[in-house]
Amino acid sequence: MSSTLRIAPSLLSADFARLGEETAAVIDAGADLIHFDVMDNHYVPNLTVGPMVCQALRPHAAVPIDVHLMVRPVDALIAPFAQAGASIISFHPEASEHVDRTIQLIKSHGVKAGLALNPATPLHHLDHVLEQLDLVLLMSVNPGFGGQGFIERVLPKIEAVRKRIDASGRDIWLEVDGGVKADNARRIAAAGADTLVAGSAVFNGGNYGVSIARIREQALLGQAQRGRDARIAA
Ligand code: DX5
Ligand code: ZN
Repeated sequence: MSSTLRIAPSLLSADFARLGEETAAVIDAGADLIHFDVMDNHYVPNLTVGPMVCQALRPHAAVPIDVHLMVRPVDALIAPFAQAGASIISFHPEASEHVDRTIQLIKSHGVKAGLALNPATPLHHLDHVLEQLDLVLLMSVNPGFGGQGFIERVLPKIEAVRKRIDASGRDIWLEVDGGVKADNARRIAAAGADTLVAGSAVFNGGNYGVSIARIREQALLGQAQRGRDARIAA
């Protein structure tokens, strides 16, 4: 069972003309990580930002930068993002010819490695690599855009990954990305997520501090419920 909760605002919904200020503002408002979405108009139908922008934001980010690569191919971008100050780099298995090699490449730069699974991507992609990972990123929307609705079918998948992580005995973070809001954060955390990405719910919700606090409050209730359920089952 996870005992930590992290909220990772996604800059995808920030004001791109003021990214440094937006980064500092969400950190002041309680962000535990900065989620940095990289899209290539190839693996996903959208185009965002690369290592130069990550590097420019690094001095504004007093918390880890959580880079989510939605690009194909992956490997050539690992060193530039590591040098740009990424703390975590996640990629999609469909986008890499050699998933184990990509994980080792990320780790060789001293960066935490994450594998990102789309809503329809089966969990067997975690076979043989889970113990190498620092993070599993479960997508609860199809990647490419902010502001989409949470796909409820992902909830049992969160439960299943939580069981696999617990069985591994390793401290692997379980991050959920897409459509996370205060009104579903409780169920997402109760299913076993410990790291919640929220883009539109933070940046389009008015006061960042209030929005982050609402999501955190609900997610902590979900974690507490999960703890109670575990004690009853034991
Ligand atoms: C989608 C991105 C998400 C997105 C989340 O492809 O990976 O990180 O920004 O945005 P919301 O929270 O608005 O769904
Ligand atoms: Zn993302």
